[in-house]
Amino acid sequence: MKNSTKTFAIAAALLFFTAQLSLPGQVGNVTLLWSKNCQKCHGKDGRGNTKAGKMAKAKDFTDADYQEAMEEETMHKNIKEGMKIDGKTKMKPFAEKLTDEEITALIVFVRKFGE
Ligand code: HEC
Repeated sequence: MKNSTKTFAIAAALLFFTAQLSLPGQVGNVTLLWSKNCQKCHGKDGRGNTKAGKMAKAKDFTDADYQEAMEEETMHKNIKEGMKIDGKTKMKPFAEKLTDEEITALIVFVRKFGE
């Protein structure tokens, strides 16, 4: 094998394994759930710094105070039933799209932004 090919192969393998390591268990699926359903507003990095996120006024999940203010139970309810503030829908309900297990996994995912 040529040296450059070898380096590339090692780099690719390392990338692959670190990606796996940082996403233990079945979190691979959760990343997909996140990118499909949540990322539009909350962003890949959880900061809500997207066009739709700014419009809906999504908050910054990397903010320690916000993380502290959120409670598992309300998070679950808000994701499942949606969130209205002053009568305006901020986040639509995901009850028909996601199972309780998926919502629970997504909450763990959201918590990781604060770590
Ligand atoms: C249409 C944009 C939009 C989408 C899509 C969206 N959210 Fe939200 N989300 C918001 C807004 C806006 C808030 C409210 C911020 C606030 O508290 O004012 C919010 C709040 C939350 C909260 C905090 C709830 C609480 O208890 O305070 C969680 C957790 C959350 N979203 C997770 C998710 C997850 C998981 C998904 C994907 C399944 C998702 N969101 C999809 C806009 C969105």
